Amino acid sequence: MGRGFYIQCHFTHTFKRKISLYCDMGLKQIDHGSKEYQQMVTLRFEIMRKPLGLSFSPEELAKEKNDILIGAFDEDEMTGCCILTDISSGSVKLRQMAVLKNMQGKGIGETIIQFAENIARDKGYKTLTMHARDTAIGFYEKYGYKVEGAGFLEINIPHHIMKKKLR
Ligand SMILES: CC(C)(COP(=O)(O)OP(=O)(O)OC[C@H]1O[C@@H](n2cnc3c(N)ncnc32)[C@H](O)[C@@H]1OP(=O)(O)O)[C@@H](O)C(=O)NCCC(=O)NCCS
Repeated sequence: MGRGFYIQCHFTHTFKRKISLYCDMGLKQIDHGSKEYQQMVTLRFEIMRKPLGLSFSPEELAKEKNDILIGAFDEDEMTGCCILTDISSGSVKLRQMAVLKNMQGKGIGETIIQFAENIARDKGYKTLTMHARDTAIGFYEKYGYKVEGAGFLEINIPHHIMKKKLR
């Protein structure tokens, strides 16, 4: 079997996987303090904090009141999320990007980041920036984000600043 055949099968498989996901999945902005926000905090805790032995303080969560809160849903279940926080005129910071463990690698992260970028553009932001965990740099690079500057530790794990100009 030639290499060309393999590439075509891989492409068709990936394409179908993503098309079926776009059809089944709902993305929306959610309200701080809502039932969906509770789901978001639980998901973030499971994926981002629990493995590090950390939790969220009430003060930390209260600060999210003015943030843009985004959830991906499969019917009523939140499968992934992220947050956009205004940092200065023209720039917004992507935070708390997470997908349920058993749903990772199915295209959910891609749809969330594209949805978040569209919201940021609609609100007039020119740049999207983030503190990316080093383990996720390859994911963000796929969508045009570039590393800036030296690495640093945040919540005790290696991070880099990544940025993208929104067009
Ligand atoms: C990083 C994360 C949000 C990606 O979401 P996901 O739904 O698994 O990603 P997708 O399935 O949409 O992947 C899209 C593409 O990125 C690639 N990708 C996914 N995670 C990656 C990673 N950590 N490094 C490099 N590439 C990655 C996929 O292979 C896929 O590539 P393809 O289009 O060529 O097939 C998710 O894996 C996650 O929640 N990880 C744990 C929490 C975390 O690290 N969050 C980021 C903090 S900065």
